[in-house]
Amino acid sequence: MTPALPASSPPPNWVESNHPLGWLIDRLLAVEPLRWLLFWQARRLIIRTAEGRGIAWRQRRELLQRAAEPLLVSTTNPAVAVPPYYRARFHAYDAGNLCWAAACEAEQATASMALRVWPNEPELAPELAQSRLRHAIFSAIEPSLTGPVRRALDLGCSVGVGTFALRDWLLERQAAGEAFQSPEGFPAVAGDAEPSAATPSSLQVEGLDLSAEMLAVARVREAEQQISPVSSSGLALAPISWHHGAAEATGLPAAAYDLITLQFVCHELPQSATRAVVAEAARLLRPGGVIALVDQDPDSEVIRRLPAPIATLLKSTEPYLEDYFRLDLAAALQAAGFRDVRRAAVDPRHRLLVARR
Ligand SMILES: C[S@@+](CC[C@H](N)C(=O)[O-])C[C@H]1O[C@@H](n2cnc3c(N)ncnc32)[C@H](O)[C@@H]1O
Repeated sequence: MTPALPASSPPPNWVESNHPLGWLIDRLLAVEPLRWLLFWQARRLIIRTAEGRGIAWRQRRELLQRAAEPLLVSTTNPAVAVPPYYRARFHAYDAGNLCWAAACEAEQATASMALRVWPNEPELAPELAQSRLRHAIFSAIEPSLTGPVRRALDLGCSVGVGTFALRDWLLERQAAGEAFQSPEGFPAVAGDAEPSAATPSSLQVEGLDLSAEMLAVARVREAEQQISPVSSSGLALAPISWHHGAAEATGLPAAAYDLITLQFVCHELPQSATRAVVAEAARLLRPGGVIALVDQDPDSEVIRRLPAPIATLLKSTEPYLEDYFRLDLAAALQAAGFRDVRRAAVDPRHRLLVARR
């Protein structure tokens, strides 16, 4: 049993419903016409950021929807039960994540999110911001990996932006011979695979999401890559398996995965769902397997000091933020049987928690 990590900071004032600022924001958001106006403003802000950097928001949305609609039926698992919390209004969409608009704008919104991490770099290209964001995440996971990753699962994969980045990183890792390191503090344990140079074909990367629309768009985006099926470093791309399902009840095989990621998912979950997802990840990982969760950093000064108008816009689109910031995720991981929990800031706004099964 590893010692508990020091607790993260308490929720920022603007999040806390019992702090005057958070309370005031909550009261404003309870006034429906005002909430709607803020919702709409939040959406405009995201689109403006994207379009200001050359992202063709609307054209891309239309193209993706035309291509993804025919894939919806074959992507949907009719047996999937949608938990009630998932039907909340997210991200300025009244239908939350369960609509074409959310799915066909997710790629652009993800680009906008990465750009907003570095607001003082107006020349930063969207692709560069995205690869910088993901590179920092994967570099922070690396010290917890003590062997090859042959099967990885990206929970809450949305339209695959993080899943593709994960696959490309794992391909590069394999190509580099999977340098086998056991950094201080993370000794190899029984059940860890021996070091070996895996061939790229032995890599299996999977994505899972509750939104079939998002997954249909992920499939379109993957097909677009097949036009030139090599990663940024020239390695042949392994096809990704997409699963329609709930991260807390995936139906996937037990003890089958070496690595599970949750990239920017937990802030969209009530605490009970996060706990259930972490327990499911513990079931899915082989002994020694690694879980990595990246999301907003409660210790980030940028997040804590968000100007009140921006905080209000953000809160209007994220129904479970307070739940997220109040949860001691490190303790939740330990309660689910994870050990060697580490926390690392990966950029000015986000932190990673990583732990081993
Ligand atoms: C902000 S997006 C994540 C983006 C993506 N992982 C990335 O790194 O760009 C959150 C995703 O989590 C999915 N999600 C939320 N709750 C879920 C659950 N219980 N099971 C599966 N997916 C879920 C949503 O449908 C949405 O696609």
